[in-house]
Amino acid sequence: MNVPVNEVFATVGESGIREVVAAFYRQVPDDSILGPMYPRDDMEGAEQRLRSFLVYRFGGPDTYLSERGHPRLRMRHAPFAVNQAARDRWVDLMTTAIDGSSLADEVKSAMKVFLADVATFLLNR
Ligand code: HEM
Repeated sequence: MNVPVNEVFATVGESGIREVVAAFYRQVPDDSILGPMYPRDDMEGAEQRLRSFLVYRFGGPDTYLSERGHPRLRMRHAPFAVNQAARDRWVDLMTTAIDGSSLADEVKSAMKVFLADVATFLLNR
């Protein structure tokens, strides 16, 4: 059984989300498509923003909302060329991060389905 998206936090805690997001961002700087898109001088901040958003979206504390306001993900991604190649690469790196993590299989698949769907929703070019 897949874990519902809003129960992922209760299942893996902040440390599980931290593990996945850190593994994702370790791959970003050297990536040919995503590397140039992210702020090289603020990779820690970028990592923190995605982690905080996912903690909130996966049913944990909503600190993201007080720090960043409503997510408005499509608007926030408008400055970046999220074409099919960028979307697919983002999903590839995230899949590698999730598969390499210590999380249980049913949480891994719940996260992968959710993140791939949002990535498709963010296509803007
Ligand atoms: C589809 C491919 C994607 C690309 C190319 C992409 C790219 C980016 C870039 C370049 C940033 C700016 C980094 C920063 O300084 O914060 C960013 C921010 C962010 N992205 Fe993505 N992203 C993608 C998919 C996603 C997905 C699937 C999610 C959520 C499930 C997501 C959530 C976020 C969040 C929460 C932020 C920070 C927003 C803020 O508070 O300012 N992104 N993304």
